[in-house]
Amino acid sequence: MNLEIGIVIGTAKPDHVIFEARRPISLGEYVSILDSQGRKVLGVVESSSIKSDALSDSISNFEQALESKQVASENSRDKSYKANVKILGLLDQLQKCKSILPEIPPLPGTEVFEAKPDELETIFDPVKDEWLKIGTLLRQKEVGVKININKVTTRHLGVLAMTGMGKSNLIILLAKAISEIPGTMVIFDYHDDYKGVNMTNLNFISAQINPRLLTPEKFAEVIEIRDMADIQKIILSKAFDDDLRHRTGDEFWQALEENIDRLQISEKRNKASAERVKEKVKEARRKLRNILYANASDPASMIKEGRINIISLLELNEKQANIAIAFYLELLLADRKNAKNQLHNNTNDFIRFKNPILVVIEEAHVFIPKQEYTDTKYFAAKVAREGRKFGMGLIVVSQRPRSIDPGVLSQMGSLAIMKIIQQEDQTQVASASESLSTNLIEQLPSLNPGESLLIGQWVNLPSFVRLYESKDRRMGADPDPVEEWKKSRIQHDSIRESSNSYLREGYVQD
Ligand SMILES: Nc1ncnc2c1ncn2[C@@H]1O[C@H](COP(=O)(O)OP(=O)(O)OP(=O)(O)O)[C@@H](O)[C@H]1O
Ligand SMILES: [Mg+2]
Repeated sequence: MNLEIGIVIGTAKPDHVIFEARRPISLGEYVSILDSQGRKVLGVVESSSIKSDALSDSISNFEQALESKQVASENSRDKSYKANVKILGLLDQLQKCKSILPEIPPLPGTEVFEAKPDELETIFDPVKDEWLKIGTLLRQKEVGVKININKVTTRHLGVLAMTGMGKSNLIILLAKAISEIPGTMVIFDYHDDYKGVNMTNLNFISAQINPRLLTPEKFAEVIEIRDMADIQKIILSKAFDDDLRHRTGDEFWQALEENIDRLQISEKRNKASAERVKEKVKEARRKLRNILYANASDPASMIKEGRINIISLLELNEKQANIAIAFYLELLLADRKNAKNQLHNNTNDFIRFKNPILVVIEEAHVFIPKQEYTDTKYFAAKVAREGRKFGMGLIVVSQRPRSIDPGVLSQMGSLAIMKIIQQEDQTQVASASESLSTNLIEQLPSLNPGESLLIGQWVNLPSFVRLYESKDRRMGADPDPVEEWKKSRIQHDSIRESSNSYLREGYVQD
């Protein structure tokens, strides 16, 4: 038996009703209502309010509030619990993954019921291989929620929320489920957030850049030649000749230095600039010795099919990380294109990744920014546009949606949105999705860590979800500065103590 919780009031529309409830109603509760033809319609509470007649806004002093409190407590009719419901569709059709709204809205006076778990399970917890479980409904915890990973891989996903709200946790949940299939995932990890994760089929890689495969312009950025230093850039591009690209290892660096030396002699005017370029090359080689590899293979050969590949960008600055991500993206997309072509044309090109790949870009506002061109943005936009055809999915993760390129964001077929307070961020998120009503947007500040609104193609219906907390992770928890300071004070005290006693002993001996 469904439990009756309210009655439809006011102006009802096919996609929206208001009801007066017998109890306070929570955001994200699912309700069922009969339409005018007696069919069950499913709705979700988008917002709710509680109002007291006696304790109204017009109360002008504390004494009056105290008296009104007494009146309110004695009057069972004092409170009004109202809820706005977004109608999602006819229940039996939703259970077949079709969203069909009733032609005539539920009539005012119709009873509103709590949706039953078994009615919701068919919709939110389908039993199919491509549906992976990542949490439960926020208000009906007995109902599991799954997402369609095929839709993520073909139509992309945006994970958007303020810092510390559970974005990386969600990526780990997805990675874990994918690792068990096993599928292929590539996560670009800028802050070493994924270092401590623990799951099967993991492949940790430090990002590498092969200078032989870069254009001279990109190489100049990697070795941090300043934007304004035009002469240095010209010298580097002259030194970066075709012969150099065929040298590997130490030979590459020696040949590069020799080329610069030659230019120093032939272009006396620019001797100082050439010297500076040589210094920059040496400095980069020293500072980036774990990243710059002028070897024969390309860095993407470290990425493994059927694994969760975590590429650490920790040692790179933003510009270098940008070049590295773009490099990998370009290569992965080209490989996927070749794989598809090979399927159609029976060619024998070498294909590294025979199956689809899902790529995650954390800090998307840095690497796919709104205002400026970046290489990563260029290739991410390409993956967002073309990835579907070639089996390459993109997940962009950001705590600053307002700063992400809106073109790329609008290509994300699904969104996971957690707590967002800033209005500019909310506006940007709203414009990235048609299914986000103002009512839903207004609820985003009230979400807690791990609570998320899932919308788009990866779910059958927009859903408020409590995501599971991944236990396969050691990083991510907020640091505890007080604890760390205390520990360091104890250490300092014991060092001081031992050096004092050393001095004392020395003094005694003297
Ligand atoms: N599903 C969840 N349930 C409960 N707590 C969670 C959940 N997800 C995250 N948290 C808590 O929030 C903390 C931060 O999570 P996480 O690192 O995933 O956030 P984030 O949004 O990626 O943050 P940042 O923007 O800093 O990268 C976790 O350490 C955990 O304590
Ligand atoms: Mg994170």
